[in-house]
Amino acid sequence: MAMATEKMNTKCEKCGGTGWILVTEDEVELVRRCECAEKIRRQGLLETAAIPERYHHCTLDSFNIWDKKNKTLARSKKAVREYVDLYPETEKQGLLLMGPVGTGKTHLAVAALQELIEGKGVRGCFADFTSLVLEIQMTFGETGGSRELLQPLVEAELLVLDELGAGKTSQWVLDLLYYLVNRRYLERRATIFTTNLKDPTDSPKAGQEYLADRVSRRIRSRLFEMCEKIELVGGDFRKHQYAHPRYEKNA
Ligand SMILES: Nc1ncnc2c1ncn2[C@@H]1O[C@H](COP(=O)(O)OP(=O)(O)OP(=O)(O)O)[C@@H](O)[C@H]1O
Ligand SMILES: [Mg+2]
Ligand SMILES: [Zn+2]
Repeated sequence: MAMATEKMNTKCEKCGGTGWILVTEDEVELVRRCECAEKIRRQGLLETAAIPERYHHCTLDSFNIWDKKNKTLARSKKAVREYVDLYPETEKQGLLLMGPVGTGKTHLAVAALQELIEGKGVRGCFADFTSLVLEIQMTFGETGGSRELLQPLVEAELLVLDELGAGKTSQWVLDLLYYLVNRRYLERRATIFTTNLKDPTDSPKAGQEYLADRVSRRIRSRLFEMCEKIELVGGDFRKHQYAHPRYEKNA
């Protein structure tokens, strides 16, 4: 990793930037990895996680409970915090963040991803569903193209798959998506999904498209088995911020 070596040269007081330190144990001199090496590794992981610039600011601390009446904000934040703290010994392998536009689903998903990379050195990766689908479609006809695209997502220790089910997808894209979800399911890998789509309640509305309609029942069923469901309801933070531009700083 060229990047890591470059950074290694920015002088660390303990190791002088070499990444190694000399320690004496029972009068024997030993060479040990300096703590800065792990920090540098985690910085590299963060840079290769493909988190969009727009979401770099997302942390759990910066997730405000801006509407006190909306209990799902505090509840969701707490559930994500617990997931991060317990990882990798979490109850469920992943999280499924559901809710309407602007409720903070991507914010929470990215917050978990960044905190796990920085705090626990997790090899994590972000992918957004719409871009993924477009990229898969662009590989149509190329041998091994979609495999090359999906393999890193299959193998990431932690994957955030944002906006699952957004937009229409063709059957073969759905098959590839199934492959991705199923592989992660089989390998018990941690995945955090976000989606705008709902699951039908007791009285499903005619004409409404639900999660299973978009991503197939097979995928939906795996999601619910793999993930702890976190439901956000309520207003759009983007609109709130627009109406109270200074709120963010004071909260
Ligand atoms: N509770 C919050 N505290 C601070 N910032 C928030 C909060 N909720 C959302 N935001 C910010 O508002 C913007 C929109 O939130 P986000 O993208 O997470 O919403 P979303 O639920 O993923 O919406 P969409 O369904 O449109 O993808 C982001 O910049 C995010 O950081
Ligand atoms: Mg989002
Ligand atoms: Zn060092």
